[in-house]
Amino acid sequence: MQTQVIKHTNGKTSLSEAADILRRGGLVAFATETVYGLGGNALNEDAAKKIYAAKGRPSDNPLIVHIAEPEDAEKYAYTNELYYKLARAFMPGPLTVILPKKNTVPSSVTGGLDTVALRCPSHPTARALIKESGLPIAAPSANISGRPSPTSAEHVVADLSGKIDMIIDGGESEIGLESTIVKIEDNKLVMLRPGGITFDALACVCENVEIAYAVTEALAPSERVISPGMKYRHYSPSTPLVLLDGERENVIAFMKKAQENEKCIIISYTEEVSELKKDRLIEIGSENDLDSQAKRLFAVLRETESYDADIIYAHLPKKDGLGLALYNRLIRAAAHTIKKV
Ligand code: TXA
Ligand code: MG
Repeated sequence: MQTQVIKHTNGKTSLSEAADILRRGGLVAFATETVYGLGGNALNEDAAKKIYAAKGRPSDNPLIVHIAEPEDAEKYAYTNELYYKLARAFMPGPLTVILPKKNTVPSSVTGGLDTVALRCPSHPTARALIKESGLPIAAPSANISGRPSPTSAEHVVADLSGKIDMIIDGGESEIGLESTIVKIEDNKLVMLRPGGITFDALACVCENVEIAYAVTEALAPSERVISPGMKYRHYSPSTPLVLLDGERENVIAFMKKAQENEKCIIISYTEEVSELKKDRLIEIGSENDLDSQAKRLFAVLRETESYDADIIYAHLPKKDGLGLALYNRLIRAAAHTIKKV
């Protein structure tokens, strides 16, 4: 299959052909503010099957349904007051809400669950595509299953070219990490995946917010998970990644020594670059600029693949604010390998 790549960076390009592809049951990858999504018609079983096949994703791992307006949730789910509170505060934006599903959504999209994940993205490309097609769009991240999520059209081309109909290049993803996922349970929110909407932001809207255990801890194989995605292996680079936990000076000292004695890749903060050797050194951003680090993380993980090395060392992020999302993605990439220094 020939994959067409079109640009939608100025918001003016017509998306009518992309919308036609979706209406015919084809697949279109598109920019969102979080990461690129691999979209198909959420009401079409075959489109869902094609998404799972293109990504090589297990079919019991459900897809997020993208809608144009928060009220569109009524067509696909049983909403409540808390949903609309969240919608008023955070939609459109990087939040996904899990609600009991209506029969309009095929069970292949929700991996057989009786709930559905809904997200109303803010990126102009995503919004234009949903509106132009007149469809709810089922879209996981547009990477091969087990690879870092794509934050640019180039990442999508690298993973999915030849496997899908079209890629809409809407520029680099602004946030760079996948949406925050919350499940509404009565009047309580359970955060299943941290992202651009932080715990503190959620706590301003709902008094009772809980962070699911699997967000920060490794699950025992027998443990029950609320979100099927939590049980699958996430991106782990072919070179093992180790996260360094300790005072800044200790971490730098460890990194310097490792550069002397090991064939290692170092992922460092901008402030430390001058103290380290340039060879196999990747800068993730300024230490206190979590937004920039989030934006670059997946590109950095992809970049590690271009070096021949035995081991990768990076800082263990702090869990405050957006740091929780960085922590969550990095401990998975490191298969929970943390070294105290
Ligand atoms: O930012 C994002 O959310 C991106 C963009 C494209 O919107 N999408 C994304 O999709 O990250 P994906 O498929 O890579 O991750 C969706 C996660 C999976 O871990 C899945 O298990 C979980 O959401 N999920 C989906 N439906 C669910 C449900 N009904 N209950 C619990 N977890 C669900
Ligand atoms: Mg994904």
